[in-house]
Amino acid sequence: MADSSSAAPHHIAIVMDGNGRWATRRFLPRLAGHRQGVESLRRCARACVERGVGVLTVFAFSSENWNRPADEVSGLMDLLAKALAREVPQLHKDGVRLHFVGEKAGLSDSVREGLAQAEAVTAQNTRLVLNVCFNYGGRWDIAQAAASLAQRGEPITEQGLNAAMSLAHVPDPDLLIRTGGEMRISNFLLWQCAYSELYFSECLWPEFDEVALDAAIAAYAGRERRFGKTSAQVRKVS
Ligand code: FPP
Repeated sequence: MADSSSAAPHHIAIVMDGNGRWATRRFLPRLAGHRQGVESLRRCARACVERGVGVLTVFAFSSENWNRPADEVSGLMDLLAKALAREVPQLHKDGVRLHFVGEKAGLSDSVREGLAQAEAVTAQNTRLVLNVCFNYGGRWDIAQAAASLAQRGEPITEQGLNAAMSLAHVPDPDLLIRTGGEMRISNFLLWQCAYSELYFSECLWPEFDEVALDAAIAAYAGRERRFGKTSAQVRKVS
């Protein structure tokens, strides 16, 4: 059971939005924005390690992103492969454990192998769990969890679904950040964000730095998490 204190988020989830606009404003191809987005992700992961955040979960490619222009989709696949090759050694040194969350079926063999290898190399790390949601959708996650329970002949209960969801290895996000100024969840962690605090930033993802992260954490620290209880009940407990 999560406690009502919101002093420091243990698990931060991020919809990294605004890469395309960042690039377009600079008369650059959209892919340049995604490349800059990888830099921003590296900076954010390091900042989370420094701040003692235990889990960072990011939305890197949604089930719906396949509908983007073919060159952007193939560019994002390529970027993932290159980012793995370039970033994993440093992430490993920083004590980051990588998990790739999402439907693997749609990915090429080489991408799948790269993901599995990155997970294996970093499996013993304990400073930060970095979940990269790739080919992920919240509805897909709920459906695959229900299907796996049904396949095993188990009843569809809240506890059973919880255990079968693709983020069962971590507690639910305390704080969900979306950059880029839009205020929606866009099929991200629909099940897991039931009680997450939401924070929307005007900052485009490539510009989301330590100062912006600290502003989100400070906003979170000012929230009262009630988990369905009254304010008086929560204050009495803490
Ligand atoms: C949304 O911005 C961003 C994405 C669909 C991709 C997010 C990917 C990264 C930040 C890079 C990390 C990726 C890997 C492969 C590890 P948008 O393109 O929708 O921006 P816009 O709303 O300004 O068009």
